[in-house]
Amino acid sequence: MCGIFAYLGPNEKAAEIVLKGLKKLEYRGYDSWGIAAQMEGGDFVIEKHVGKISEVINLEEKMTHSSHLAMGHSRWATHGGVTQYNAHPHTSEDQDVVVVHNGIFENYLELKEALIAKGHQFRSETDSEVFAHLIEEELEEGFETAFTRACKKVTGRFAILALHKGENKLIAARRGSPLIVGKADDGALFVASDVPAFLEYTKKIQYLDDNQMVTLTEGRAHFYDLETGSPIEKRLISIDWKEEEAEKGAYAHFMLKEIMEQKETLARAINADPELIQKATAMINKAYGTTLVGCGTAGKVAMVGEYLFANVAKKHVNVKFGSEFKSARHFLTDRSLIIAISQSGETADTLEALEIAKSKGAKIISIVNVETSTMARMSDLVIPLKAGPEKAVASTKATTSQLAILTLLAYAVAGRANEGKQLLIESEGKLNDLLNPRYEAHIEAVADQIKDAQDIMIIGRDMNFPIALESAIKLQEVSYIHAEGFAGGELKHGPIALISEGTPCIVIAPNDEYKAEILSNAMELKARGALLIGISPDNAEIFDIWIKVPSVGNASPILDLIPIQILAYKLAVARQTNPDMPRNLAKSVTVK
Ligand code: F6R
Repeated sequence: MCGIFAYLGPNEKAAEIVLKGLKKLEYRGYDSWGIAAQMEGGDFVIEKHVGKISEVINLEEKMTHSSHLAMGHSRWATHGGVTQYNAHPHTSEDQDVVVVHNGIFENYLELKEALIAKGHQFRSETDSEVFAHLIEEELEEGFETAFTRACKKVTGRFAILALHKGENKLIAARRGSPLIVGKADDGALFVASDVPAFLEYTKKIQYLDDNQMVTLTEGRAHFYDLETGSPIEKRLISIDWKEEEAEKGAYAHFMLKEIMEQKETLARAINADPELIQKATAMINKAYGTTLVGCGTAGKVAMVGEYLFANVAKKHVNVKFGSEFKSARHFLTDRSLIIAISQSGETADTLEALEIAKSKGAKIISIVNVETSTMARMSDLVIPLKAGPEKAVASTKATTSQLAILTLLAYAVAGRANEGKQLLIESEGKLNDLLNPRYEAHIEAVADQIKDAQDIMIIGRDMNFPIALESAIKLQEVSYIHAEGFAGGELKHGPIALISEGTPCIVIAPNDEYKAEILSNAMELKARGALLIGISPDNAEIFDIWIKVPSVGNASPILDLIPIQILAYKLAVARQTNPDMPRNLAKSVTVK
């Protein structure tokens, strides 16, 4: 949430480099953007604009200033509307201090009042601006001291970067929101919220952990503990991300590219290191209670996990959404196990759940795509998804990989690891039936037929109930059509009142023990005028539209989801919305 990127190095086109890198972080927030570059002589040039950085034409021409130090920010608004004033960077009263910020300073109102009482005037409605004023207050003690004192005054989660006029130095700190330092061979240094910003320059990185700061001066990055000021040695890590994986290539959108990539990404998940699966299985078997945790789509994956463990391993596991985790503290002990599910590994609510679990001494496994994320670093065991960078806001390939890993685990806990893997290999072999131009064209025609609908309902039973919930998220976030998922049997207890003539209702009907029941739920909808779209291995007379999926037993949540991902994408295109950057959303939700 909010993208931050800074450059300090030998290239005099710092502003242009930051601008290019910022575009690659736009998925983190795209309400407005801004860049500050320090000129020779120490003055700042600041550009701030409302809107998406990628939609500005001839942008490079805007940032031709000669500068070796620049930082930028792409915003997802929290405090203060989407205006140029509220766009970052923010400056101190005298404009000598410039900051960009990701996160929320929870006590900003109180700090702002105190600063106003001292005569400070504010230009924005943001929480972020207070930080520049706080530094300004303490500058007599030097930039570093002023910065650390400001960090000690603010509460909440943040990643913050600051520059001071005339000093060829950048200071950054984190508490809760991601920050990564990149080091190139020519001595250039980068600080970013995520790696793609500087991937074309270097793959050598150093991570900031919570309550740590870094000062960048020419060619050198020094890390310190924010509380004690003691220096910290950081390992230089080489990452194996490929640049082209973070680009959309010939595809119109990242979302479509990532849907189509599922053939490879699923295979990678299925081939997860057997040793890791074994270790995780031992931890699950040993634990006195396992709780699956995730948010949004990952939360729905966690719900599927509950069914998988029940059906395959006859084992009860709990499920909690990250944002609703707190009450679990009453039953967690040092024998509990938490399995965190996340694409980014940086979701604030899931991280908070892990902090609570850790404080109780519980063990943590994370099933996560970004292997070097905070969540991964907090975990006792990490099962990486290896899905490559997922940049579209709507999660697709990471979701199916998470489902595959949970399927492997459920079978392994049941003592049938090979059977689980074989099932997944066979299912993955059938993906060509779904990821081909003919199938895509069929779904595009369905999207055309229902694109003007007011509401779409989705029903499923058992493992496919959470898939109905996840389908609703996919449709809502990129098509903006009101969509809701239900357990098939629940509709008649209230929601059926919403069905009227022609309401599209998607029925997920795999060949499982619930087939007759879900079809009879579908009948109830049809009797009220619903347009039935069946996602099923076999056509049924009651379906108005049939989208065929292979019959794959307990892997059905994975394959049933794929046509819905395609439908959501096609609806977005038909309704001329941008599926990669849906309104009001951002990838990686680093605020609570
Ligand atoms: C929806 C979506 C979100 C994420 C959620 C958690 O398509 O992507 O609901 O699933 O914000 O994010 P991660 O998986 O990064 O923890």
